[in-house]
Amino acid sequence: MKKVLFVQGSLRKLSFNRQLQKEIVAALGDAVEIDELAYDDVAPINQDDEWPTPASVARVRADVQAADAIWIVSPQYNGSFPGHVKNLFDWLSRPVEQGKSATAVKGKKVTVSGIGGRTQTAEMRAALSTLLRFIGMDTMDEEGSGYAVNASAWASNVVEFSDEQQASIKRQAESFIAFIEA
Ligand SMILES: Cc1cc2nc3c(=O)[nH]c(=O)nc-3n(C[C@H](O)[C@H](O)[C@H](O)COP(=O)(O)O)c2cc1C
Repeated sequence: MKKVLFVQGSLRKLSFNRQLQKEIVAALGDAVEIDELAYDDVAPINQDDEWPTPASVARVRADVQAADAIWIVSPQYNGSFPGHVKNLFDWLSRPVEQGKSATAVKGKKVTVSGIGGRTQTAEMRAALSTLLRFIGMDTMDEEGSGYAVNASAWASNVVEFSDEQQASIKRQAESFIAFIEA
């Protein structure tokens, strides 16, 4: 069975994007194996610390290498993706072995989703798509899928996904399964 590894861009407990990830996981069903990357111990990148590879970085690279595909679910911060997501992918973009060119992410299949305000995270997804292309990832769809939260979610922290949003999540999940298995 193929393995999808989620990269969650929000660190907050009541995150809208974590709720979106739950919907995506439900839409994927048992067609694929699912895991989530733990990366909160990855320090800001510093080339002085690249070799020997820090243990946290070696672990996230191994987790990414063991997955068939990555699904990034991220909030939009100031028209882009959060800095810790950039830091993670900066580390992942560097060679796995000193003096070699192979990275953990080159050629890896990926898709992106995000939920936030009125623009449905469009700027985040555009910026992330540029980064993913730059580091040689195999993006299913240039700018993934984005959603705006229902108005009451800003106060309640509970996202109510509309039928239309659920149908879109299902479509992306089905397309991604086909993309991974192709
Ligand atoms: C630093 C920062 C910048 C933000 N910039 C944007 C933005 O550009 N567009 C937007 O719609 N929301 C923006 N927001 C609001 C987030 O979309 C909102 O807080 C959302 O709940 C974050 O996702 P989460 O619930 O998954 O953590 C920003 C929030 C933060 C903390």
